[in-house]
Amino acid sequence: MSFDDIIDRIGTHSSKWDLMEPRFGVPASDGLAMWTADSDYPTADCVRDVVRAAADLGIFGYFGDYGDFHEAIGWWMRERHDWTIEPDWILTTHGLGNAVALCIDTWSKPGDSVVIFPPVYHEFAGKIERAGRKVTECPLSRVGDRYMLDLDAAQARLTGTERLLIWCSPQNPSGRIWTPEEQRAVADFALRNNLILVSDEVHHDLVYAGETFVPMDVAAPAARHALVTLTAASKTFNIAGQRTGNMIIADATLRAAMTTRLHALDLAPNGLGVKMVTAAYSPEGAAWVDAQIAHLDANRRLFDAGVNAIPGVRSLPLQSTYLAWVDFSGTGMAYEEFDARVRKTARIAASPGPGFGTGGENFLRFNLATQRARVTEAVERLQKAFADLQ
Ligand SMILES: Cc1ncc(COP(=O)(O)O)c(C=O)c1O
Repeated sequence: MSFDDIIDRIGTHSSKWDLMEPRFGVPASDGLAMWTADSDYPTADCVRDVVRAAADLGIFGYFGDYGDFHEAIGWWMRERHDWTIEPDWILTTHGLGNAVALCIDTWSKPGDSVVIFPPVYHEFAGKIERAGRKVTECPLSRVGDRYMLDLDAAQARLTGTERLLIWCSPQNPSGRIWTPEEQRAVADFALRNNLILVSDEVHHDLVYAGETFVPMDVAAPAARHALVTLTAASKTFNIAGQRTGNMIIADATLRAAMTTRLHALDLAPNGLGVKMVTAAYSPEGAAWVDAQIAHLDANRRLFDAGVNAIPGVRSLPLQSTYLAWVDFSGTGMAYEEFDARVRKTARIAASPGPGFGTGGENFLRFNLATQRARVTEAVERLQKAFADLQ
């Protein structure tokens, strides 16, 4: 099956497609779902095969022995990210949203604050606030098409109540890949301010040719005693529904604290998810990911060329991820107007920029992990919806 075979996901309990109409008012009949971060093509055959084999066995009893799973994760990190980890550093959660929430819960108290660098994945702030903690926003600055850190400004924003820093690497949105020097600067900032550094690296695999992602643990080994790295196969292999993510924690004291919390809450991995990730992190899975990146690369080029031809609209060039971050500020329109044109005229559900915090006010985020024909259709609809600007 190719990345371009159209699959109708309506009626499959896909939140991206089945919630498009209730959430965005974009009709299921001919709308394009380009919001939440999952993909519209089936995962790698090696992953589908283990699910078939499990269904054929038909027994879904309690899971035991994580040896293969940990070995596969270790292999993937070494092979794909030049990162050596030990099997006992790996703790497994119900996805990375769950992992972020567990970090907040374990290493801060209600009333404490957590540092984030917006515009950033909207659920960081959501989880911080729902846990009764406060968000300390340290906005990134925009320099041309690129986001940059301003750690002096960040320092001035701290209130003294911060306990954690949640870092997104690569950055969602914008796909920014942080250099090792930038990562070290963030790690130093965390250490200087006594913050646990949670590095969410879920988007680390979908990196375009010529770009290099470096894990925080590799870039800033001196911060290891304060570092929790979050990784998952969910975005890379389009298996987010299996709710399996990992916290990789080298420091024994941090790991013991999280292990105690996981035991207290009786959080154990989903057995089918573990089998899927084990199969994914393999040479066959790696070849599938390489083919996917080539597909996404052509999608982003097509999308950027089409969208950037609309006067006042700018899709920022991606170094990684399939999440195009599109700036409408040059149109001079208020958010409500360009958002209505995209939802109502173009019939496209895109993620609202303001949800990503300060800096997202004039943006929408478009998910390009779909068939080329759908990207082509999206570009045509957007050009028509803004035709009066031509
Ligand atoms: C940066 C980031 N972290 C975490 C998540 C959520 O991951 P999960 O589906 O494993 O809960 C997402 C999903 O889009 C994300 O972009």
